[in-house]
Amino acid sequence: MCGICGYVGGGNGVKEVVQGLKILEYRGYDSCGVAYLDNKKIDIIKTIGDVDNLKKLTENLSANVVIGHTRWATHGSVNEKNAHPHLSTSKNLAMVHNGIIENYKELKEEFKLNCISDTDSEVFLNLIDSEKGTLIDKVIKASKKVQGTFAVLVLGSDGEMVLGKRESPLYLSNVEDEVYIASDVLALKGENYFALNDDEFASVKNGKIIFYNKNGEKITKKCEKIEKNSDFSEIFYKTHMESEIFETKNVLLKTLKKYTEENIFQNIKLPKKLNSISLIACGTAYHASLMGAEFFKKVGVDARAYLASEFRYGNEILKDDTLYIFVSQSGETADTIASAKMVKERNLPMLALTNMENCLLNRICENVLPTFAGREIAVASTKAYTCQVFSLYLFSLYLANIPLPKEEIFDDFPYVTFSEELVKQIAKFKKVFFIGRNLDYVTAMEASLKLKEISYINCFAIASGELKHGTLALIDEDAVVIAICTQENIKTKLLSNLEEIKARGGEIVVVSQFDDFSDYPCVKLPETQTELMPIVSVIPMQFLALHICELFGYNPDKPRNLAKSVTVE
Ligand code: F6R
Repeated sequence: MCGICGYVGGGNGVKEVVQGLKILEYRGYDSCGVAYLDNKKIDIIKTIGDVDNLKKLTENLSANVVIGHTRWATHGSVNEKNAHPHLSTSKNLAMVHNGIIENYKELKEEFKLNCISDTDSEVFLNLIDSEKGTLIDKVIKASKKVQGTFAVLVLGSDGEMVLGKRESPLYLSNVEDEVYIASDVLALKGENYFALNDDEFASVKNGKIIFYNKNGEKITKKCEKIEKNSDFSEIFYKTHMESEIFETKNVLLKTLKKYTEENIFQNIKLPKKLNSISLIACGTAYHASLMGAEFFKKVGVDARAYLASEFRYGNEILKDDTLYIFVSQSGETADTIASAKMVKERNLPMLALTNMENCLLNRICENVLPTFAGREIAVASTKAYTCQVFSLYLFSLYLANIPLPKEEIFDDFPYVTFSEELVKQIAKFKKVFFIGRNLDYVTAMEASLKLKEISYINCFAIASGELKHGTLALIDEDAVVIAICTQENIKTKLLSNLEEIKARGGEIVVVSQFDDFSDYPCVKLPETQTELMPIVSVIPMQFLALHICELFGYNPDKPRNLAKSVTVE
């Protein structure tokens, strides 16, 4: 999603900001731009597409005070007019904004604000410009009128920069008299950083940072250490996605080692009496939560997974003997954050299962169970998913007082994939269905999400037992059904389902470790520890999505319309 970078100092801020935007590329975006100060006049350069375009356009520029942005369109289509930074009507201010201003139409009308673009962000900017006082006064006053979420960075034509946030993250670092600003710690330079809390603001001028609360009073803030050891994965393969799938074994091993050696579970605060667990997440992290719920139930703890976007508007009865686990790779996902805030308001036991040490979700929950997947760059989550599944599995063992497995379980860790021939065959179908039961149904859901998001094939997952309650009507010779079976007790059930599909002309491919499916093309999984099967079986599904995507000539790392961190609702 959108990314913000800023620089104030004696160096070439244009270069610094473009470099920062390059680091934020992985979040997904469709246009980008910079605003810089040139002799008390604000100039703006924007472009649709890559930061590399922007780099070329700004090659010969140099400026000491610069703001930049990568935009992922929400209000208004993808074009230069809607790209950030925006310039205020008076031309005295430029601004970049992450988040959504929900009452932008009302504000535009009430304060008669003239805007050129279709964005909510430009309304916010002109509202700021219409306020009275210093730049910090203006930003604080305007922020009181807006509803929604924001991280804003405003550049004044006198060289001052003001920033503030509500819900969307924003950070600063100070290296001697240079100040770096970014919406992701990864794009900051230096050893330490400051994190703005909601409705906090900062003014940056001549290398000095002054922090303010929402009443405009100066406040002091403590800096935190930048942990960059969970760095980008090194790319040994053609794409980040491929490289990240092949990191699975290492990151699982690292997670197991950390949990064992650092006694991480002992530091988790549990409710006095633990009666049930609710897991709340979005997308792939929701699928990991569904797996987690199965693991917890298996050791006798009642558990349920919720989609965060449903949970936050639903009528769930919140209880103090429930542990609320918020699962998120980024720790920034808007619906997950909003759900966590809801639980926090009620002062209930909560835990963040996140992959990013410095994330918002960790700040909200305070109680954190980290995964150690390292930085995931590809939009489609792979190693972070398997790490979440594994962490939840280990946590379920801990709750049941079962010793954690030994590292040897990874000795012959298999990376199974579909043959090239099967990939080509499956790619020809107009309809792709993934089926399975229980844990395998969850894997089917994850397989379907992976395939649709990067190959744009219309596919979905269905619990095998549900086929004849509706979906079977869609099965004909244009359909391929990929059936996953890793559990002994449901083999025969699946065999009957396959007969029903065959009778309707559907093509079938089975992913299983069992020999019972030899009548069908089969991706053979190894016989390995049952607890590893949800991981071992999802890897071929990740590869399938990757290989079909590549066959179609798409970039798996940057699927259309999607972003890595979904920081808007
Ligand atoms: C799909 C994918 C998304 C994310 C979802 C939640 O491959 O990555 O579905 O899982 O947007 O993101 P996090 O885990 O950052 O909260």
